[in-house]
Amino acid sequence: MKTALTGIKPTGTPHIGNYLGAIKPALELSKSCETRYFIADYHALNTCKDAEELRSMTLEIAAAWLACGLDPEKSLIYRQSSIPQTFELATILMAFTPKGLMNRAHAYKAMLQSNHEANRDPDDGVNMGLFTYPILMAADILLFDPDLVPVGSDQFQHVEMAVDIAQSFNYVYQTEGLKLPKALAHEGAETVVGLDGRKMSKSYGNVIPLFAGSKQLRKTIMKIVTNSQGIEEPKNPDECNIFALYKNFATEEQIEALKVRYLAGGMGWGHAKQELFERMDEVLTPFRERYNELMANQDYIHQILREGSEKAIPLAEKKIKELRRIIGID
Ligand code: TRP
Repeated sequence: MKTALTGIKPTGTPHIGNYLGAIKPALELSKSCETRYFIADYHALNTCKDAEELRSMTLEIAAAWLACGLDPEKSLIYRQSSIPQTFELATILMAFTPKGLMNRAHAYKAMLQSNHEANRDPDDGVNMGLFTYPILMAADILLFDPDLVPVGSDQFQHVEMAVDIAQSFNYVYQTEGLKLPKALAHEGAETVVGLDGRKMSKSYGNVIPLFAGSKQLRKTIMKIVTNSQGIEEPKNPDECNIFALYKNFATEEQIEALKVRYLAGGMGWGHAKQELFERMDEVLTPFRERYNELMANQDYIHQILREGSEKAIPLAEKKIKELRRIIGID
């Protein structure tokens, strides 16, 4: 059985775009792979310097994944910060990472670019955690020998950098000490549209929260932007944000049936939104209930994370020992 590993950035309560684009496809993998998920809390430190916020975002994201179906009996879930070997491996990998490789990382280049545009010093706001981000990410991955790393397309380059770094380590010592992983694209992840038709993203303020109560969910769905076609006019389902979302929550038959109503005319946007709300509410209600239950019992979340790290640490320890032997620090 192949193993898959992915890191989850603590971002607070997730929205429908996070669910459809990342959580759902990553959890789907647990049917065919041995899966390991971890919360990348030290990655979050690069941007979040508020202890209370970091603490609560970490808990919320763990609760979110558990509520959406992550089964801790079948998959590993742990906090990055609980695995000290990650940071030792990151130190090892530093010695095999050319600075030029880091210069080419998209996230860093984007910072340089925005500084340039704002007439600021190129290094403004760039801390070393941000600059060396791909090295820590490589350590997260290479420590556990996964075959697959499911990520959004924005993380592809980082996974490729992990492969580059592993290859140069293996070449230097003429070993296969580090396994070369493969990035796996989340299909359709880029196409989840928000309320205004742009990609659903917190920074656009166009999200539908994943765990909103039914009332708030309905209110949010009613804000989806549509064109000005009247009730009687036939409507094109393929150019409609409501329909695009509906497809993710309805069965084939339901999708077909709604399509027929679109094309026939006589159905207003309010009706379509009501249909979408009913489907989404049906699918999301169990998630929401589970999430609220978990958040009301945070000791349990901590316990799951602790048990996960207790299982992950021996694997990490074995790997780091092997690597120490290879490099002569044993
Ligand atoms: N950088 C990833 C993100 O922003 C999170 C992450 C950290 C990750 N370490 C990882 C993903 C290792 C995959 C593997 O989403």
